[in-house]
Amino acid sequence: MAMIDREQAWNILCEFTKSEGLRKHALAVETCVVAYAKRFGEGVEQWQVTALLHDFDWEIHPTLEGHPQLGEPMLAERGVDEETRRAILSHASHTGVARTSPLEKTLYACDELAGFITAISYVKPHRSVFEVDVASVKKKMKDKAFRALGKPAGHRRWRRRTGRAARRAHRFLRKGNAGAGRRSWGLRAACKSEWRCRDRLTKGLIL
Ligand SMILES: [Fe+2]
Ligand SMILES: [Fe+2]
Repeated sequence: MAMIDREQAWNILCEFTKSEGLRKHALAVETCVVAYAKRFGEGVEQWQVTALLHDFDWEIHPTLEGHPQLGEPMLAERGVDEETRRAILSHASHTGVARTSPLEKTLYACDELAGFITAISYVKPHRSVFEVDVASVKKKMKDKAFRALGKPAGHRRWRRRTGRAARRAHRFLRKGNAGAGRRSWGLRAACKSEWRCRDRLTKGLIL
């Protein structure tokens, strides 16, 4: 099956995704994935199409029962090739589709990486991604407090279990949260994304 091009992928995304945030997420993941496609010497356009479409059906199937498996036949109808559709299925662990190809691994890692970078931008003075540099992303990845607080079980329960180190981390978050609600959201999102991001990077890809 012939592959669709980036413009067609963008049109499919916009047909089913009205939220600006979700469109931006697709663009952010696309940007990260393209960087890796170039680095690995892979076909840029297919990777772009995959990244743009990986969450195309989230607004119409906003649960794990629907996304992305109910979107997959819709993409097939619109001429999206099998390799791309398989990669999209594999970004959601609950589909049971194993991530084996470089595209599948990269999509999985970049889905979180993009979120992590966006979250870091929210705690910058102008909330702009242009204020985020590689050094600050790497620093946040090593930041124990961020790392500790990213535990997906929810920091309160986790804090009880892990004692003093976690309490210190919790204080850090509270201090960081002293500002506006948005800032607090950014920190929390960064914590969560960071943990998942590291998890994905170690499983799939070396940054
Ligand atoms: Fe998704
Ligand atoms: Fe996503």
